[in-house]
Amino acid sequence: MSIAVKERSVRSDHKNRFRNAPRNLDFTVDQDWISYSAAEHDRWDRLFKRSQETLRDRAYDEFIGMMNALKLSDSGIPNMEKLSERLEKITGWSVVPVAGLVPDDIFFNHLANKRFPAAAFIRSEQEMDYLEEPDIFHDIFGHVPLLANPIYSDFMQAYGRGGQRSIRLGQLPHLARLYWYTVEFGLIRTKAGLRIFGAGIVSSTAESVFALESDSPNRIGFDLQRIMRTKYVIDDFQQTYFVIDSFEQLLDDCYRDFGPIYERIRRAPDIEPYELTDNDEVLTRGNLGYFKDRPK
Ligand SMILES: [Fe+2]
Repeated sequence: MSIAVKERSVRSDHKNRFRNAPRNLDFTVDQDWISYSAAEHDRWDRLFKRSQETLRDRAYDEFIGMMNALKLSDSGIPNMEKLSERLEKITGWSVVPVAGLVPDDIFFNHLANKRFPAAAFIRSEQEMDYLEEPDIFHDIFGHVPLLANPIYSDFMQAYGRGGQRSIRLGQLPHLARLYWYTVEFGLIRTKAGLRIFGAGIVSSTAESVFALESDSPNRIGFDLQRIMRTKYVIDDFQQTYFVIDSFEQLLDDCYRDFGPIYERIRRAPDIEPYELTDNDEVLTRGNLGYFKDRPK
């Protein structure tokens, strides 16, 4: 996961045993798979099993299908080299181990070259329900399955290229919101109802239920410019979820020159995370009840 989305601001260095591992220029480290303890493998297994139960009828079918195709399972922490061999055969992506958050330009360069940087450490026993920094379960369980979908794969590679450009244009804060509200916290419309595909949701059992079933958040139709203007909160459930129609829509809407869009929104005011606007396609108007008592 990239620092581009500043997922969790609080660091917990003492819990990440890869923090000081020797790293290459592209910030990759040796996963040293043999070094995972039985307790760490067991932690993965419990997270995996718990997620399976929660995600039934909540996760997008494609997510479950690709997870099975890649043989992600409850038989211990995946070896990224072996996982990459399976993924490369499908869409050409690989998964590379990193110690934690990596600089934006490095992150985008990996994506543009079809490499997904995944944290090598697994969360502690005390963080099973709340995670301060993306770990291997979030990065692999949450992000990797959809990289086996050819359209999503193209979107992620295009995002990497667009990320490099956004840095040159000074537009990264706008682009990061697209990642946040789709790759991390996106919902998708299906014939069976709304489903989850964002990695930040699927890797959190509590948010999986909240995102689909709570009366609190807004759920509105995907709108690229609107998303780029919408602020987000990093350390709580989302106040607004954006809903795409399909990965084709996501790719079609985003596979374009963002330069004119950046120009248009340059002077437009930001939209608050809870705010609805006149042009929104509102699927659910949230009562924001959950958020009213939250500490600011
Ligand atoms: Fe993530």
